[in-house]
Amino acid sequence: MSFYITTPIYYTNDVPHIGHAYTTIACDILARYNKLLGKEVYFLTGTDEHGQKVEKSAKDANVNPKEFVDKLSINFKKLVLDLDCEIDDFIRTTEPRHIKAAQFLWNKLLENDQIYLSNYEGWYSIRDEAFYLENELTKVDGKFKTKSGSSVEWVKEESYFFKLSKWEDKLIQFYENNPDAISPKTRYNEVLSFIKGGLKDLSISRTTFEWGVKVPNNNKHVMYVWIDALCNYLTSIGYPDINNDKFIKFWPAIHIVGKDILRFHAVFWPAFLMAADIDPPKKIYAHGWWTNEGQKISKSIGNVIDPYEIINEFGLDQFRYFLFREVPFGNDGDFSKKSIANRVNADLSNNFGNLVQRISTFIVKNCNSSINPTNNLNNDDKELIKNLDKKFNDYKNYMNNQQIDKSIKSVMELLSLTNVYVDEQAPWSLKKTDKERMQVVLFVVVNIIIKSSIMLFPIIPKSTKKILSMFNMDINNINFNKFDLLISKNIIIDSPSPIFPRIL
Ligand code: MSP
Repeated sequence: MSFYITTPIYYTNDVPHIGHAYTTIACDILARYNKLLGKEVYFLTGTDEHGQKVEKSAKDANVNPKEFVDKLSINFKKLVLDLDCEIDDFIRTTEPRHIKAAQFLWNKLLENDQIYLSNYEGWYSIRDEAFYLENELTKVDGKFKTKSGSSVEWVKEESYFFKLSKWEDKLIQFYENNPDAISPKTRYNEVLSFIKGGLKDLSISRTTFEWGVKVPNNNKHVMYVWIDALCNYLTSIGYPDINNDKFIKFWPAIHIVGKDILRFHAVFWPAFLMAADIDPPKKIYAHGWWTNEGQKISKSIGNVIDPYEIINEFGLDQFRYFLFREVPFGNDGDFSKKSIANRVNADLSNNFGNLVQRISTFIVKNCNSSINPTNNLNNDDKELIKNLDKKFNDYKNYMNNQQIDKSIKSVMELLSLTNVYVDEQAPWSLKKTDKERMQVVLFVVVNIIIKSSIMLFPIIPKSTKKILSMFNMDINNINFNKFDLLISKNIIIDSPSPIFPRIL
């Protein structure tokens, strides 16, 4: 089984912020989870380097666009690694392999009679790199603005058009037959009603600036940045060679995107693909947006959240954990340092960390650092193990539906139950009365710590690896295979160290 997951490619017009980190970590979590299931995973991210917005930013910085994107793209690549994301490819749309793929896709659309030359006249937002109808805009201080507050300008130029209107029925049919192809459900309904409202042909080239992929056989035009950008998902797996192993194995992909760019992915992209004789994406998942202490994040307000600042203050895994436990994936979320501290203290320090710390130090002190497997379980033990099985199933069901917050919550509930079990069984008292029973209790708890660590590995990889190596598990081969049999051997505990210090 294979699993192909992508982030949107990021505009190289500024430094990365929390929004970029969020989408990338989401994909990393789902990629790692699918690897634990034993699937062959391909995880793609990269930078979207063409278009009017990037050209304008380069001009403002007095640098030529290529030099400008070369410099800015590095920051995005570095962030991916600093977030501990295990990618398989980092694509840049200025690379020759991509320009070749985008031009091939264009020619394919032309060959399939999906493109015609005409004139475009209408509103364009450089910030959104999108065309708007007047009824989608509102007048603020005498000037038209988009719903998200972006300015628009009137554009009048010769343009190639994609026959999007022709794909209305096919798209409706595709989504009605594949109700899971867009998630969450509200987004599916939104897209479907947008398509049913009628689709107009789409302008897909520009003549008034230069920074883009040249339209084959008409150098006056550059491709609309979105057709160029979307094509990255094909380029990385070897397009135009659709018969190569990677393409055959991995296409179609699952695209994780922010809600603001859903329409490009769920309407334009499947239409381009079908028009080029390629299968539409397997799924498009739209996540919500982060605000900063209740305010929209924006450069002009000056409240952009720098992921490095949060990581330096709270720790990487703490940041990853907070983003995906705090807010249901798909909903908007509000960021504050107070809420990250509260969440980390409650879940990671007091619940998970506390359990690991007290059990491992107890075993080192009282059991010569070693625990033996046993079958001698009583009803309390069996009850807790039953809960482990149930929570593991819940966790998988939620992860399979991208409900990351709920899957984490299942593991946290299991850990809370385990802390209660430890208090009730009181191994420190059993030490004096029944050493054999004490061993059984510790065995059950160690079992749960190891399995919870594996379940939480996709979310907090560095810390769970530390815990697993503390329990002498093979951290180079973490997966759900043989999950049931994991501790059939004697477990020796290395010197315990606190994993999640409380945030003060
Ligand atoms: N270049 C396009 C995508 C092309 S994909 C073929 C683009 N780039 S972007 O850099 O502007 O945005 C990338 C992603 O960051 C989007 O998914 C967007 O939703 C996300 N975020 C930007 N700000 C965000 C928040 N404040 N919160 C969460 N995610 C947000 O769009």
